[in-house]
Formats: sequence, structure tokens, C-alpha cells
Amino acid sequence: MIRGFVSANTKSPHNIFSGLLKFEARWYCSISFGFKDKISPELCDNLQRNGYAVVDEIFEKVTIQQIREEVLNMYNGSHMHKNCTHLVNNATKRLVEKHHIHEAELTLDHNIQSMAPVCSQLNNDRSLPVMLNLFMPKLTLESQAIKLQVNSGGGGCFPCHFDSDEQVDGRKVTAIIYANPMWQPGDGGQLRLYPFPYSAPIDIEPVSGRMVLFSSTRMLHRVLPSAATQRVCLTVWLSQLRSRQRGSPLFAGSPLSSTFSADSDQTKQIASLMQPHIRNHVLKMVYAQEWAESIELSHPYTLERDGMVEQHWREVEMIRKALKSCEPTIQYLEDVCKNSHESMPNLHKLPISWF
Ligand SMILES: [Fe+2]
Repeated sequence: MIRGFVSANTKSPHNIFSGLLKFEARWYCSISFGFKDKISPELCDNLQRNGYAVVDEIFEKVTIQQIREEVLNMYNGSHMHKNCTHLVNNATKRLVEKHHIHEAELTLDHNIQSMAPVCSQLNNDRSLPVMLNLFMPKLTLESQAIKLQVNSGGGGCFPCHFDSDEQVDGRKVTAIIYANPMWQPGDGGQLRLYPFPYSAPIDIEPVSGRMVLFSSTRMLHRVLPSAATQRVCLTVWLSQLRSRQRGSPLFAGSPLSSTFSADSDQTKQIASLMQPHIRNHVLKMVYAQEWAESIELSHPYTLERDGMVEQHWREVEMIRKALKSCEPTIQYLEDVCKNSHESMPNLHKLPISWF
């Protein structure tokens, strides 16, 4: 039962109405205030420079708890559907179910909205895109879509992927909000980000009240297997209107930022490899083995899963052939990432355009 409705039902019609208004106003304030308070110039600077940013205690604890209860009520009432990988091959499209992952589309489904009033407040609130546009005006975010998710444990996870592609839709920023008050390190389910070539992969714990922001198109990520019985999160996708989308340059300057000195053939080659569309292919090559394993971990065994893994290796082989002349440089980047103690100041000055 949702707090606030119980006492309101025992009052006069007028008081019921004012009780509901107070109820909605309370959650609205918590959500709106959270974004306005926590989305700072410093956070946006981190997002712009590193491709991701993390903020804790985005909402009051009671709001996070209410969101968790709403999502679990939907899960327990069988109002969520299984998450599937969309497998496209030779113009045919098939769905391959993942283990233990259930979802509901909040923004698209009025029935879901009516069952989850606090989540609906989040859906109706526009403070997050407004604040991001304020400090990152080139994003020009115009819409948001929210998905609710329960990972029921048993090793439920997601394979390596990018959330979107400029050719597919207007998604620019992904925000994930976690509602797991009992989460402990042994529970797994960390979000793994790959901010290549700045550092080795980074694991972010799905602790309650935490929000992670990252580039939808250029941040490779996966979710590690979860042993927790019920890992709850909300994903907010923030999009530009498609008519506004434009190719963003790789670097702040042209062709290279003045902060990055392309003083050798190798540094020129690194700059070339870090162009967004090429960098995504490089990532597939560098993390090929982990990528393949993550596909296997995320789906129960089927012939389709075998097909996905085979298709992955075919793509890796094609990329390897296409980038053969750059192999020593890619190996060098991989070594730098794996050995973070090695100083490579010039590389860290490479200003990748994440958005
Ligand atoms: Fe994702």
C-alpha cells in the first residue's frame, strides 16, 4: 500500500483531494529538488570530459524506497516483461531472452504509470534534461523515456553494448538510478563502464540513491552477474530531436585539440582511431573475449545464443583485418589501459568527444 493514500481515504472529499495534492507535491519536490541540487557544473564537466559521472543520494531515502516498492509491486503482479536481445541477421529480426531480467516501459505505458505514482512523477518531471542542457547546452536534450527494471538474481546480467547509435535514434545521455537499500559487495550486479583509452574498465556499485550518467552512443558498458534477489533500477534515456542531431566533431578543435600534441606518427594514429565510429570498433576488438563471455553469461543456452557469439567473432575478425595496419598502436593503447600505473600524460590530454 502506498503511504499517504491510506489516511487520505478516511477524510472528507475535500481533504482527500488536498491529501492527494500533498502526496504528489511531496514526491514531485523530492525528485525535482534532487536533480536541481545535484546536477552541478562540476558533475557536467566530469560527464563531458570522461563520458560518465556518478552522483549519490539523488533523492531522499523515502523517495527511493517508494520507487523500489512500486517497481517490485509491478514485478510481483506480473506487469513486467522479460528483456530480450534483438538479434538482426540478414534482414531477419529475432528476440533472444535474457536470464532473470524483467522490465516495464514507464513513459510509453499509461497503465504502468497509473500503478506507479512516484515513478510517474519522475516521468513527468523535466528537471534532469533542463539541468543538463543548462551546463551542457550543446546537448539540446528535448525528451526523455524511462524504463523500470528488476534483476531477480541468479546471475542476471547484460552483455557489452552501447545503448544507441547516432544512425538509430536521438538518445545522447543515459541515466541509471538505483534503488537497492540492502545491496552488499557480494551481491554483484555492478555496472561496468569502459572509458577507453583513459583507463581500465570501472565497476560502479548499484547502491541505493546512486545515479550514473553516461554517453548513450559512445560509452561501452555491461552489467555484471547479480546474485542479489531483487536488484531494482530505473533507466532514463535523454534524447535530442532527430532533426537536431548532427555529427559532433571528435575533438574540441580541428583536426586536433591544441591540448593534444600529435607529435608523432603514433599519436596521429591514436587520434584517428579515437574518432567515435572507429573507436567503437576498436573497443570491440580490444575487449573481444570479455564481450563474447558477456553474451554467454546474459542468455540461457540456445542456438540463437551460439549464433550471436559466432556473429560477434566474425565482426571482430572483420575489424581486425580492417585495422591491421594499426594493430601495434591498438596493442599499445590496450597495454596503457591495463597498466594504469604507466604514465601517459599525452594520452589523457586526448579530448574525446563523448556526445
Ligand atoms: Fe545499456
